[in-house]
Amino acid sequence: MSERVIPLVDQRIAALSAPRPTVPIPPRGHVADRLGRPLRDLRISVTDRCNFRCSYCMPKDVFTKDYPYLPHAALLTFEEITRLARLFVAHGVRKLRLTGGEPLLRKNLEDLIEQLAALRTPEGEPLDLTLTTNGTLLRRKARALRDAGLQRVTVSLDGLEDVVFRRMNDVDFPVGAVLDGIAEAQAVGLGPIKVNMVVKRGTNDDQIIPMARHFRGSGIVLRFIEYMDVGATNGWRMDEVLPSADVLARLQREFALVPLEPSAPGETAQRWGYAGPDGRHDPQLGEIGLISSVTQAFCRDCNRIRLSTEGKVYLCLFADRGYDLRSLLRGGASDEDIASALAAIWQGRSDRYSELRALLPAEERRAARRIEMSYIGG
Ligand code: GTP
Ligand code: 5AD
Ligand code: SF4
Ligand code: SF4
Repeated sequence: MSERVIPLVDQRIAALSAPRPTVPIPPRGHVADRLGRPLRDLRISVTDRCNFRCSYCMPKDVFTKDYPYLPHAALLTFEEITRLARLFVAHGVRKLRLTGGEPLLRKNLEDLIEQLAALRTPEGEPLDLTLTTNGTLLRRKARALRDAGLQRVTVSLDGLEDVVFRRMNDVDFPVGAVLDGIAEAQAVGLGPIKVNMVVKRGTNDDQIIPMARHFRGSGIVLRFIEYMDVGATNGWRMDEVLPSADVLARLQREFALVPLEPSAPGETAQRWGYAGPDGRHDPQLGEIGLISSVTQAFCRDCNRIRLSTEGKVYLCLFADRGYDLRSLLRGGASDEDIASALAAIWQGRSDRYSELRALLPAEERRAARRIEMSYIGG
């Protein structure tokens, strides 16, 4: 029998009811979880569909045309999303990331961006508003996204060589179109742009150096991501993970790199800057990032929460269920009720899967029925 586990729809249906604290918990701009971690980063998935079939995320044999994607009525409306985002901001969120699936497949996304761009922190500041995309629709949409108030984008790109890229996206999509999308995003000022490359040993690791050469000095930050055991469908194996330490060693054979300080607490990436002839970081040459959730877990400062397309919040990428907020929204709950629920959910959080991964027996890890990354977003 194959080891691959077919996802069950009830992973998504099985929801936790949002808590209804008897004593209201009004937003005070700061809420901490059980490990003392603040809430700063809200990732909003706007669709569970994608036009790519990256094997590490939406393997083709599982995500067929018969896959039970969410029906339209299940999706949160833009008004519902914005209402939740506003309440999250009142609890301390400072960064909003739109994600998917592929977020640019959601119709009229610019309208949502406009609403989110109008939100302000309690101090009256705009939020860090960004989006993760595979770049296929970026050339066409970059300008409208920027005009709607999007500040920056992160583009997923797993190789530079066309054959490798087509193999990674598994729908034969050419790399040139994504590179054009990145160029357009840069031209309209959607920066600083980041490019995320998931590295699978033996599949696209020969692209590490070409990618680094290509983006060095371009103003774009390239980040190498360890292939993770998210979801239940990608058939993850440790031997396909190329540890970031190895990625770094390969890069250091070609380039002089110096470690950089984190730019924000709880950051996912370890930053390395390209050095100039004096051995110091040369900002003109730029930097790279290493995202090492498998070999060097970064749960300790994890300040991220994820909102699914249908209105459930997940406290960890590796959670098996989320708290249903849509019922609150559609059941007439007041802002005060919802804010209290959000605070209670975050205050009850103790998730730190990546730190615990190594301690879990392999069978238990494999048997876990986790949500898919295409459903919850990166
Ligand atoms: P910036 O603000 O642009 O630096 O974004 P970010 O690094 O917070 O987010 P991004 O979505 O670019 O994250 C890049 C990748 O890191 C994701 O696609 C995931 O592979 C991984 N990642 C992000 N957040 C988490 C997390 O909370 N846990 C784990 N294990 N991996 C994460
Ligand atoms: N491992 C690491 N990152 C993943 N992503 C999706 N699946 C995985 C995985 N198995 C992330 C990638 C991609 C983004 C959309 O989600 O960074 O760029
Ligand atoms: Fe689509 Fe991104 Fe998943 Fe690839 S990683 S299938 S582009 S959502
Ligand atoms: Fe946060 Fe969970 Fe990722 Fe750890 S594994 S960094 S707790 S989302």
